[in-house]
Formats: sequence, C-alpha cells, structure tokens
Amino acid sequence: MEQTFVMIKPDGVQRSLVGEILARFEKKGFKIVGLKLMKVTEELAGLHYQEHKGKPFYPGLIKYITSAPVVVMVVEGKNAVSEVRKINGATNPLDAQPGTIRGDFAQDIGRNVIHGSDSVESAKREISIYFKQDELLEYNYAPATWLFE
Ligand code: RTP
Ligand code: MG
Repeated sequence: MEQTFVMIKPDGVQRSLVGEILARFEKKGFKIVGLKLMKVTEELAGLHYQEHKGKPFYPGLIKYITSAPVVVMVVEGKNAVSEVRKINGATNPLDAQPGTIRGDFAQDIGRNVIHGSDSVESAKREISIYFKQDELLEYNYAPATWLFE
C-alpha cells in the first residue's frame, strides 16, 4: 500500500469544505493514517514549496498557505499518490473535470482548495515536514476486507 500527503488549504477550511472533502477520501476507501488541523508557519511553507522558490506565484502561494488554518492528512491505499491527484483534479480549477474536488469547488488556480503529493518521494518528504512519527497511527482498517480481493 502507498501513502500520500494531502492538505485542505486555508480556503477549503474557511469555506467549510473539510467534511465534504474528507468524505470523498473516506468513501474511496483510503485509510486515514494521520489527520490534524494546524497553522502552517513560514518555515514549514518554505520547506513544503521549496521546488517553487523563485517562481512568480511563490510569494502569493506562501501568503495564501500561511493565512489561516489548514487540515493535513496522510492517506493510504492502492496507488494513493496518483489516485488522490485524480480526485483533486487539475491544478487550475478551470481545467479540472466536474466530479473532482477542484472541478466542483474552485475557480482560481491561486485558491484551489487542496494539495496532494506528486510522487511517492514527495509524499515521504511532505509527510516528514508535517507529521511526527508518533502522529501516524498503525491500526487495523476494517473495510480493507471488503475493498481488496
Ligand atoms: P499542489 O502541489 O498544491 O497539489 O498542486 P499541484 O501539484 O497541482 O501544483 P504545483 O505546480 O505543485 O503548484 C503548487 C501550488 O501553487 C499554486 N500555483 N499558482 N498562479 C499560478 O500560476 C500558480 N501555479 C501554481 C497553486 O496553489 C498550486 O496548487
Ligand atoms: Mg505540487
């Protein structure tokens, strides 16, 4: 099983989309391994988005992500990294299909509600930025019996 890092960005929290978004991942059958509400500091934001440093949208991105609380989570499932990105939809909500989170709930690339890691390597890196080891729980996920052959 693969793990990935997901963040409901400040706009998602402020727009009361937390329950709706969590439900989508739960209903897919992803096991939630870690989950918390937190404020992203400038330092954490810089670590998370280091690949975008120097790009024109970087200052706005850091301001956005540190502006209000976010919900961070680690979800686990088959091909979780790419499956979560399918559920999230295209980065620019104008390109995102209806049925995806960005397609259904967003209009602007700078307020696109959700983040998902883009590779297994990024997922590992981002999980370690936002979670301590003891915040990631090992437990028996009962639905697995009915999700997997
Ligand atoms: P994310 O990292 O948030 O899951 O999104 P992504 O992989 O689909 O997009 P990425 O290229 O990693 O960009 C990270 C976030 O930066 C903001 N962005 N703004 N104004 C712009 O041109 C622009 N481009 C990117 C978005 O919030 C994007 O999710
Ligand atoms: Mg990205």
